[in-house]
Amino acid sequence: MLTVLVADDEKSMREFLEIMLSREGYDVVTTASAEEAIEVVTSRSIDLVITDINMPKATGMAVLKSSMEFDPEVPVIMITAFGSADTAVEAMKMGAYDYITKPFKVDEIKLVVSKALERRRDKEEIRRLKEEVVQSYSLGDLLGRSEQMVNIFRLIKKVAVSNSTVLITGESGTGKELVAKAIHYLSNRKDRPIISINCGAMPEQLLESEMFGYQKGAFTGANADKKGLLEVSDGGTFFFDEVGEAPISVQVKMLRVLQEREFKRVGGVKDIKVDIRVIAATNQNLEKLIEDGLFREDLYYRLNIIPIHIPPLRERREDIPLLVNRFVEKFVVSNAKAGMSISNDAMRLLENYHWRGNVRELENVIERAIVLATGTRIEPENLPDEIKLSGVDIRNGTMTIPDEGVDLEEMLSGLEKEYLTKALEAAGGKKKQAAKLVKLSFRSFRYKLAKYGIGGSSGDGEDE
Ligand SMILES: Nc1ncnc2c1ncn2[C@@H]1O[C@H](COP(=O)(O)OP(=O)(O)OP(=O)(O)O)[C@@H](O)[C@H]1O
Ligand SMILES: [Mg+2]
Repeated sequence: MLTVLVADDEKSMREFLEIMLSREGYDVVTTASAEEAIEVVTSRSIDLVITDINMPKATGMAVLKSSMEFDPEVPVIMITAFGSADTAVEAMKMGAYDYITKPFKVDEIKLVVSKALERRRDKEEIRRLKEEVVQSYSLGDLLGRSEQMVNIFRLIKKVAVSNSTVLITGESGTGKELVAKAIHYLSNRKDRPIISINCGAMPEQLLESEMFGYQKGAFTGANADKKGLLEVSDGGTFFFDEVGEAPISVQVKMLRVLQEREFKRVGGVKDIKVDIRVIAATNQNLEKLIEDGLFREDLYYRLNIIPIHIPPLRERREDIPLLVNRFVEKFVVSNAKAGMSISNDAMRLLENYHWRGNVRELENVIERAIVLATGTRIEPENLPDEIKLSGVDIRNGTMTIPDEGVDLEEMLSGLEKEYLTKALEAAGGKKKQAAKLVKLSFRSFRYKLAKYGIGGSSGDGEDE
């Protein structure tokens, strides 16, 4: 329950406000003087102060001052007499939330009070979220301490309570599915299922009947009515994964689901209503797909109500140690290698690698390293060549030949791959520029990219 302090030397005004605010569900404390009010604001937790400006001896301004000093987040509303605009302005300058002029209407004060408290609640909530996130650097199964991830955590908490459609974008392995789950489990739908469907994983007809269900006789083999996953997720969350891969026919039907929460089963005539929250995810550039006529623009706008973009791991390297330690802990347990840790050298390599497969790739590398490590620490030699080599400074001759020998071919191509990727990164994805950085002709640079499958398959036209 929120507590409101009313300070007014006029008894009738105190009583009026007390009755009215109690009726609104607030806990009301009243005082007849500024001195008493100051005592209250500096000794107990108050959510809102309403004070008359004109009181004998100390005035409302003194109450305002004390309250601001004690807790600047508590809104203070001043009551002024008609014609004392100057003092009101002065109070606002000092930090008063608002003022109302006597005589005022009930609705007027109700509105000001509820607005002030709403703002206070928001501020309070944001502060609490910040603290929570900072303490643990995690949200559900998601870990992250980078500014980008902490902001994503905040956004997740905010949107979880709403029913708004969310579109999660990010490269493969950045944690899109984990974000979708976090939203679901923080929402009030958490006791109902989150159902996901991967639009890229099955042929069109199957995808449709899986999603929307079918009517008996809709096609050969449809021997009975069957509920689709949309119906199964009723009351819960529907996770529309790899949405960029959805065939147009499914996109059209999905649009209707988003607009009306309604659809028909395959072969059915009846409209089926569902109460679902939709979350979609993709690692593709939907705007580009729209341009190419592969994705419906209207569906895009319906999905992109609340966009959450997860940046690639290489753009938030502060998260790497946190993730590494979590994965070490996890795989140490599953491989019964208690007490295992990671050496500083190995950690440094992991922190500097470019992680094209993002968190998933990092997780796999750690699992493999734990299996391979013979001692109690993960060392650089337990990491894949590509990563190991990314830290080798050839000019300083820090290379050593391990007892088991090296596969020179593999090493060199790993190194080449590494340099090509770094050059592309440095050139902001512009291939021509990147080619110059590694002193290759554009032609052979492009050939090598294709050979290693780097930088997507399409040649960037504007560059050529
Ligand atoms: N911030 C994170 N904290 C902890 N684990 C993470 C984080 N991000 C991703 N992971 C882990 O990385 C793996 C990949 O995550 P997820 O499946 O959510 O990625 P995705 O973006 O959906 O990838 P794809 O596009 O390939 O489907 C999972 O094992 C997940 O647990
Ligand atoms: Mg995924």
